[in-house]
Amino acid sequence: MAEALKIDNPTKSATCAACHAPLQTVEPTFLAANAHPEDGVSCVTCHGVSTDDWLRSHTRPDWTHQDRVAAGMRDLRNLYIRANSCVACHQNIDPQLVKVGRHPQLIFELDGQAVSEPKHWTEAANWQGGQAWFVGQAVALREMSWALAHERTDADLDAPRWAGLLWLLQRCDAGDALPPIAAVSNEASQASYAGAMDQADVIARRGAEITWSSDLTKTLVKKLAATHPDFLDAATAQPVQARRAERLVLALDRLLASLPVAQRPPAAGAPLDKLFQLAQSVPDFSPKDFARELAAFEMALNPVADAKVASRD
Ligand code: HEC
Ligand code: HEC
Ligand code: HEC
Repeated sequence: MAEALKIDNPTKSATCAACHAPLQTVEPTFLAANAHPEDGVSCVTCHGVSTDDWLRSHTRPDWTHQDRVAAGMRDLRNLYIRANSCVACHQNIDPQLVKVGRHPQLIFELDGQAVSEPKHWTEAANWQGGQAWFVGQAVALREMSWALAHERTDADLDAPRWAGLLWLLQRCDAGDALPPIAAVSNEASQASYAGAMDQADVIARRGAEITWSSDLTKTLVKKLAATHPDFLDAATAQPVQARRAERLVLALDRLLASLPVAQRPPAAGAPLDKLFQLAQSVPDFSPKDFARELAAFEMALNPVADAKVASRD
């Protein structure tokens, strides 16, 4: 990658180190004597700069989490703050790095990424993966909108990805508990980017604040499974349809995985696997095939309705 991009030392150059080894981008005179720039992504990247205000005392058993946060440690238990911390490195990337350097495209999904990161903490008893998923997607949309509005990304590639994610969050309608993003056009324009950026931040904060429940997760799964007619809408360009599908399968996967095992619809696994296969390639994506399988997935969520239809046949 470095050769293609003509970078001498990728372990030190800010082009790579900004995300891969953030302390390498700080002037050595500003670093504490015990800092390790070569560590890559390290504790301070996520938990905040380790000042004496909190570092010495934060292991005291009589300190609550709130005490630590009040002393300056970053409040990563708050999902909005957590999402903002991770998204900085996990969504937007300079398009040259992807085009010339063949860097993988980034896609931010807080729930899955928080699960697969070596997890060194216990979540609260009322922890809901669906909530992390939702807050993460809203924050991802805000950051994509920002990058498009400021021409910090390749619009040919990212405008369809943006439109796909905006569509998804517009379909996440849980009524008063969690109203969807409304009244933002899917057409790529400065006005839409600005509108999406503001509204995505509003729903991200709201999503992090509310008390989440399995019922809310189930409502979202149902709403999203019912979107199959949208894939038959001829007015939506194929690349946008492909990007809708890409985010949608991830959404269904994370939302179902976050339900207690006993509440997961047992027949949904096989149709979801098919949806994943169909959403894998953007150029080969067939909205019609996807719509058909999504309708089958919706049926599988509700075996009772399924049986009724079968007996009518
Ligand atoms: C905006 C943040 C960001 C920047 C800048 C960045 N990377 Fe990455 N890079 C990531 C993330 C996040 C991943 C992990 C992606 C994943 O696994 O989904 C990654 C993954 C990689 C991988 C692993 C690829 C693979 O297929 O497993 C390599 C190698 C890499 N980056 C090299 C570089 C180099 C070299 C540069 C500078 C030219 C660079 N990165 C700049 C964020 C960044
Ligand atoms: C300073 C930038 C930065 C921040 C902040 C950051 N990451 Fe990463 N993360 C990276 C880079 C760079 C890689 C790729 C490392 C590699 O392949 O060597 C990575 C890799 C990962 C991976 C493994 C690859 C993948 O995408 O599955 C997970 C999981 C992950 N990060 C989760 C998180 C979570 C969760 C947070 C927030 C709590 C977070 N990261 C915050 C830069 C960052
Ligand atoms: C990629 C981001 C990331 C990195 C890097 C990271 N953490 Fe964390 N850490 C988190 C998140 C997210 C949580 C969960 C929120 C919380 O409990 O505060 C957490 C929680 C913790 C907790 C609380 C555990 C509990 O259950 O109460 C400790 C202690 C901790 N981290 C220590 C460290 C140390 C030490 C390092 C460096 C060796 C480190 N972390 C690196 C993201 C990170």
